[in-house]
Formats: sequence, C-alpha cells, structure tokens
Amino acid sequence: MTKLRAAITGVHGYVPEYILTNQELEKMVDTTDEWIMTRTGISERHILKGEGLGVSDMAVEAVKGLLKKTNTNPEDIEVVIFCTVTPDMVFPASANILSDKIGMKNAWGFDLGAACSGFLYGLTTGARLIESGAHKKVLVVGGDKMSSIVDYTDRATCVIFGDGCGAVLLEPSTDECGVMDAVLRSDGAGREFLHQKAGGSVKPASHATIDAGEHYVYQEGKSVFKFAVTNMSEAAADLMERNNLQADDITWLVPHQANKRIIDATATRMGIGSEKVMINIHKYGNTTSGTIPLCLWEWEKQLKKGDNLILAAFGGGFTWGAVWIKWAYNS
Ligand code: UT7
Repeated sequence: MTKLRAAITGVHGYVPEYILTNQELEKMVDTTDEWIMTRTGISERHILKGEGLGVSDMAVEAVKGLLKKTNTNPEDIEVVIFCTVTPDMVFPASANILSDKIGMKNAWGFDLGAACSGFLYGLTTGARLIESGAHKKVLVVGGDKMSSIVDYTDRATCVIFGDGCGAVLLEPSTDECGVMDAVLRSDGAGREFLHQKAGGSVKPASHATIDAGEHYVYQEGKSVFKFAVTNMSEAAADLMERNNLQADDITWLVPHQANKRIIDATATRMGIGSEKVMINIHKYGNTTSGTIPLCLWEWEKQLKKGDNLILAAFGGGFTWGAVWIKWAYNS
C-alpha cells in the first residue's frame, strides 16, 4: 500500500517594511558594520514598528498570501501550529488569535515554543497529524518578533536578531513526496546559555525584573556557537545515514539562519557545496522560528518536484534537529 505522507503544497512569507541597517546600529551601540559582517554575515534586518502590533500581525500577512496562492478557503484549515517564542501574549495562543484574524473558524491549534528549531518541531508534528489520517489541511507558521525581547543597548544580541514570519500548508500526498523523515533532539541543560529569564512563572514581571533587564534575550554566544555547529551537522548526518542519502543526493540544505559562519561550517561538515545552501541571513538576520520558512518562500520558484531538501536548525532549549523533505510541486 502507498504510504500517506504530508506534503508542503505552498509557502509564503512576510517581513516588515522597516529595515534596521548595520550603519544605524553603529549609531546605537559600540559596533561596526565590519564586525557584524565578518562575525555574523548580517547586513540588515527587518523590524516590526507600530503600536499594538505583534507576531500574529506578521503571520496574518504570510498566511493570507499562502491561502490566496494555494486557492484555499480559510474555513477549510483544520489545524494551525504557530511556532514562536514571542507570542502576542502569554495566553491565549497566537494560533487562536491568528485563526480569528483570518477567519479560520473550523481550526484548532496551538503555539509551539522550541525557539530556533520551532519550525522543524512544528513541521514534524503537523506531518504526523496528516499521516495519521486525522487531518487534511494543516498550517505550520514560524515567526518571531524578536525586536520585542531584544535589548537595543546590548551589542552582543541586538545586531543578530530580526522580525519575520513564514507559513506552509501541509496536505496529504501519496506520490512519494513530502516530509520523509526527521531527527529531532533537545537538551534542557542548555537553557543556561540562551534564555529569557523573566516573564514566566518562576520570575513573573515585576519592577525588579524590568530594572534588571531580565525580559530580554540572554545569550552566551561562544558556547551556543560550538553546540550549534556540532549538533546541527550531527542531526543532519544521522538523518542522511539512516535514509542512505549521500551529499550528492541533496538538492538544497536549508539551514536555520543564526550566523553565516555556523551555516558554512555545517555545510562543510556535511560535504555540501555553498551553491546548494539557502542563505538570506544578510537581509533578515536571525528571525528565530521564521528563518527556515522564509528561505523556502524565497527559493520556492527554484524548487522542483522530487528535490531533496535537508532542513537543519539549532536553538534555545537547547533544541535541534534535521528534517528531510522531498519537494512536492513545481511552481
Ligand atoms: O539562533 C539561536 C542560536 N544562536 C546562535 O546560534 C548564535 C551562536 N553564536 C554566535 O553566532 C556568535 O557567538 C556571536 C555572533 C553571538 C558572537 O560572535 P563571537 O565571534 O562568538 O564573539 P564573542 O562573543 O566571542 O565576542 C568577541 C569580542 C568580544 O570582545 P573581547 O572580549 O574579545 O574584547 C565582544 O565583546 O567581540 C565583542 N563583541 C562585539 N564587538 C563589536 C560582541 N558583540 C560585538 C559587536 N560589535 N556587536
């Protein structure tokens, strides 16, 4: 019997209009365009400006475009998985808010917080919901308004992050295309290196937490860097080995965009040439859950049915993993 798989049948993205350049950051903190470019590969990032706008507002734009191009009625969407660490509010879930804003009246959904690996976790979860036969139209949204948790006086973090959102539609497929396999991992011991200390139940918001800057992203970059390179490439290698995939079989590597140096090191370890690696970090910076769907959106027109894509990510948690996709359509 032919195996039922979950195929991505459309992808769309959104980045806000305002562009924060390295030159502007030079005026805000003690940094240089040269340092940012050589250490991270980032030249500019997009920032969501405007009172009362949250991550769901970027998702509205991405999902509206996705529904339009896939000719999908919002009421036919059954599940919304919203991968983000910057939800509109602690509760209700941004998935619920997004569903209301778009008119996805028959959908249930939830937010998924796995930081930079969020989209991979969400894609795998959504694929299982399709493969089980339980659902036929699942939206996986990955996005973050990182500017809402970044300290723009801290040069170690403010140069890295940006805002953006992407979304894919998952539908059943029986033609050997879709989400083929995934290796997902986590290690909570890594939380000391990358976290947002306050605002949860351990340290609810108070004058003291605000004064101490504990609602901002805290990152020990050097430590995270080492774990990221090793674990991302190991997860991808495990995935390729157990599916008998060689580097030559891979059409595209779609890496989380945290640092150009991490991407290059991962590709080198996997034996994949730079011409096969999706990189847009120079334009968007690190949009956390948004990086991978934003890459798929940008490269969609170049993708062909049957292309082998390896998606790989590492981030806060620690969380990491790799997903093998056989692309399901020609644009
Ligand atoms: O996406 C989630 C997962 N996150 C990641 O994967 C990020 C992983 N880490 C990184 O990408 C890099 O560690 C960073 C880009 C965050 C930092 O680069 P680095 O090469 O590891 O720099 P560093 O933190 O070791 O700092 C080197 C120097 C320090 O100065 P001293 O102590 O050597 O005098 C920093 O104070 O660079 C200094 N520095 C800066 N200088 C100019 C740190 N940030 C800046 C800056 N501009 N923006």
